[in-house]
Amino acid sequence: MAIRPISDAAAEKAAASIHQPRDPNTLSNYNAWKTKHTTANFEIDFEAKKLKGSVELTLKKLADHEPKIVLDTSFLNISSVHVDGHKAEFSVNGSRIEPYGSPLTIRVDDAATKHEVKVKIHVETTKDCTALQWLTPAQTSNKKHPYMFSQCQAIHARSLFPCQDTPDVKSTYTFNLRSALPVLASGLSTGSRDFEPGTKGKSGTLLYTFHQEIPMPSYLFAVSSGDLAAASVGPRSTVWTGPEELTACQWEFEDDVETFIQAAEKIVYPYAWTTYNVLVLPPSFPYGGMENPVYTFATPTLISGDRQNVDVIAHELAHSWSGNLVSNASWEHFWLNEGWTVYLERRIQASVLGGDQHRDFSAIIGWKALSDSIAQFGEDHEFTKMIPNLKGQDPDDAFSSVPYEKGFVFLYHLEKLVGLDKWDKFIPHYFNEYKKRSVDSYEFKATLLSFFEPDAEASKQLATVDWDKWFYTPGFPPRPDFDTTLADECYDLANKWEALNGGAKEFKPSAADIKSFSANQSVVFLERVQSFSHPLSPDLVDLMGSTYAYSSSHNVELVSRFYVVGLQAGAKSVYQPTAELLGTVGRMKFVRPLYKELLKRDAELARRTLEKNRDFYHPICRGMVEKMFERQAGK
Ligand code: BES
Ligand code: ZN
Repeated sequence: MAIRPISDAAAEKAAASIHQPRDPNTLSNYNAWKTKHTTANFEIDFEAKKLKGSVELTLKKLADHEPKIVLDTSFLNISSVHVDGHKAEFSVNGSRIEPYGSPLTIRVDDAATKHEVKVKIHVETTKDCTALQWLTPAQTSNKKHPYMFSQCQAIHARSLFPCQDTPDVKSTYTFNLRSALPVLASGLSTGSRDFEPGTKGKSGTLLYTFHQEIPMPSYLFAVSSGDLAAASVGPRSTVWTGPEELTACQWEFEDDVETFIQAAEKIVYPYAWTTYNVLVLPPSFPYGGMENPVYTFATPTLISGDRQNVDVIAHELAHSWSGNLVSNASWEHFWLNEGWTVYLERRIQASVLGGDQHRDFSAIIGWKALSDSIAQFGEDHEFTKMIPNLKGQDPDDAFSSVPYEKGFVFLYHLEKLVGLDKWDKFIPHYFNEYKKRSVDSYEFKATLLSFFEPDAEASKQLATVDWDKWFYTPGFPPRPDFDTTLADECYDLANKWEALNGGAKEFKPSAADIKSFSANQSVVFLERVQSFSHPLSPDLVDLMGSTYAYSSSHNVELVSRFYVVGLQAGAKSVYQPTAELLGTVGRMKFVRPLYKELLKRDAELARRTLEKNRDFYHPICRGMVEKMFERQAGK
């Protein structure tokens, strides 16, 4: 492997180039050269657990006198680089610049006069790749075939292939992926071809190809391969998953997907990516959903048999506009992706379910998530700002509900300020103005103010906005006046339990208490119980679990919150079930609070549970849990 260590002076220079104008989380010199098209040619090698092949980048020159192209890489094996067909000199930083990886520097002296160059890099991923999870057949549901999937957001694309790993650069993509099993990627399929028989009894492979003609940032590059089958869930939508799970997945989504697309199209403008599909992944998928273009990647915990988790689909679908067409220019402006997406998700839900009550109910759940995040970080913490300073930081560490919910509250505030009718005209304007581009918070502000400039009344209202305060004050924003109708029923019930816990005898819990509740109402109820000043008694935990069937629910949103209630109460009956749940779901939203509480109650069981499931968890989730254990041990 021809990896030549870069000189100290060059390393220093590369480190200095962390300070890019808009994105502090890339080491690439994307202001001098900009990727226009990316072709990824990879063989998916399940045995070696690697992608191997080459990537071809077409880069446009933006600045004169820049005789080198610097790309992001992380734990890659790079064997050769060609520029316009000629072997080129290159170096990879010997020591990593944490957490950004090892910049790859390519000399382009001869090409310095050209306006465009084609760089071809032969590359393999390594066992340290943070973007991929490889499952052995034994780790899959039918235990027959291996499986692999990627998760690139925020800065993991660089551990798949050298690239300008910043959301400020958008490229069109061609995917040429050879595999023994069906493949999906974040483009439109252009078919499969060129069968190659396997040697020594191994399966043969096909070349699966995809094309993405809408320019997209590197973090939306996605690939998955395994024993996959597809079923229709709408006129322009399919769901993909293992054959055994297919029917349940189809049922879960078929009523809502097209309704959501049409609702979103009414709020913004027509869907741009041709088809909208969902890939339901194995349970170790670390997120609820990931908005990869054409194929949203989703956790199997959405398949609860009650269609109560489709809000995640509304969310990922909404990213088709906010995030995927109009992308945050850096992770510091993440609220433009997630705040807008939560805003659109709630508008979609309100338009489907009818009425602001539902939107405000969902916003109340969001406010609780925001409070929890602020409590976790501390009210003065940098990461509780709408625009945090991420220089030298890992965006994964800053990840929380803050950009989602502070961003939402800000947009909700702006909507109320100018009035819904006027605001609804701004939405398509904004998404049109920045489509296929990246945007930062200052451009958002300028676009908003200039859109309303001809309107004296709206401008007067907008003049009251203290932009710097919203952008840079840590902690809570002002709490909007949400309609609490749907939440009040949940609080009333929680109050009765609190009284019961205090010794009052009038209340006799029965299943009828929650008969009219949606799953989200149970969520609000359980979260209220979690914040009782005196934890429930263990007996009452058991009574609640059986009376409301939370302990046997197939909806992880409910079971996991119920277990947290039980762990807080020291109810031994939930310890073992918690450990078991931690062996079947790897979604961080559930894994994090369950380990946190289990560690407090039974550290030994928590440790055994982690040991047993280490290989089951995704690298990102495993890292997160290990950090939690270290912090706990340090205390
Ligand atoms: N894009 C995010 C997931 C993400 C964020 C992955 C940052 C990696 C880094 C996705 O759209 C998301 O927000 N998913 C949520 C669901 C949603 C309904 C809030 C999740 O995973 O829970
Ligand atoms: Zn999102």
